[in-house]
Amino acid sequence: MRSPLPDYLTEVLEACVDDSGALADYIPELAKADPDRFALTLVTAEGAIYSVGDDDTEFTIQSVSKPFVYGLALQERGFDQVLDVIDVEPSGEAFNEVSLERNTGRPLNPMINAGALAAHALVLHGRRPEEAVESIRSLLSSLAGRDLVIDEKVATSELGTAYRNVALANLLRGYEVFEDDPDEIVEGYIRQCSVTVTTKDLALMAATLAAGGVQPVSGEQIFSRDVVRQVLSVMTTCGMYDAAGDWLSTVGIPAKSGVSGGIIGILPGQLGIAAYSPRLDEHGTSVQGVAAFGRLSRDMNLHLMDAPIVAHSVVRRKRVWGEGDDAVTVLELQGDLQFTSAEVLVRAVVDEPPATKRLAFDLSLVRAILPVGRRMLLEMIGRLHRDGLEVVVVDPDGHLPEPDTGYGFRPRVYASQDEMEARS
Ligand code: DON
Repeated sequence: MRSPLPDYLTEVLEACVDDSGALADYIPELAKADPDRFALTLVTAEGAIYSVGDDDTEFTIQSVSKPFVYGLALQERGFDQVLDVIDVEPSGEAFNEVSLERNTGRPLNPMINAGALAAHALVLHGRRPEEAVESIRSLLSSLAGRDLVIDEKVATSELGTAYRNVALANLLRGYEVFEDDPDEIVEGYIRQCSVTVTTKDLALMAATLAAGGVQPVSGEQIFSRDVVRQVLSVMTTCGMYDAAGDWLSTVGIPAKSGVSGGIIGILPGQLGIAAYSPRLDEHGTSVQGVAAFGRLSRDMNLHLMDAPIVAHSVVRRKRVWGEGDDAVTVLELQGDLQFTSAEVLVRAVVDEPPATKRLAFDLSLVRAILPVGRRMLLEMIGRLHRDGLEVVVVDPDGHLPEPDTGYGFRPRVYASQDEMEARS
């Protein structure tokens, strides 16, 4: 059987063809793009790639570089220093607006140009300008899984008309948001925006954020989980500029657009998406890209606020084996143990206490346990022990290493129900 996914994505492309919008022309070189190019790529957090349309067409990354450079600044300088320099509030204004905090001049967020210039300055500080650009090119290359190059023609073209960015950088320098030469910052930032990519590259970059910072094909941990959480939070509220609220309510996928026509979207834990089509709407975002994201979100239930109903199925099976004092109730758990599924489990045990003196939690089919799930499970085991039950755990994957309940009781751990049966 051929996977239906590429056919479905082709259908999405065909359904979203629309010749409205206009090429960006404030960067003269961008106005030369073929307006009819259209590509869509999906990469799952496990690294499966589905790609259709003009997915080998190269274009410059532009503002889609901003979340990644912000991530680099966070990783290199630490949260405190970055937050001192760039705020995380949506500006509700266009990407090139002078959206600075009153008195301090701190850019409102790192997705608008003012904040992106400041993020570039954080990466640049203490380095030579070409080293800063190289560290960014190299980061974007690791995220894409191939060596990316800078389109010097586009960079030169933008530098020739970068009046607003030069003004912004000088304003930021005037407020002492950074100490480096504003011209160097503008040049470095524009070269950062001129790294050339395809939708496959962008979808792999997006999937790395979806996979908690791990590039899904190489397996390299590029960003820490904390950095990814911060980057995605800011993308969710600020990534689509003055259309951020509309985008979040209708499409519901944290996203970032660029004026060359690229858009990335990230569904944490699930997938990265990239679209490319160079005709733009009034926000500087790809018209066909917006349509494709809207369609994917609706068809595939990808809206972030469409909560999956996972909690109810945490107890896969409850069974009792043995007789009398030897009888044991086994609760076979499944899925992920986060707060809500742990709460369902606690409630199941409270509402229907085991009728036996022995109780086993079998975690064989549990995929992951968050710290809150671990705490709640151990707290429950401690309380059950205090109430006189003998509690054991079947944990072949080591979800609960050396389980300490904090009640002076550590439950016995077995690798399987067979082992538990044989040894008890
Ligand atoms: O600074 C600029 O104006 C461009 N290099 C990038 C702007 C951009 O991509 C805005 N996003 N839609």
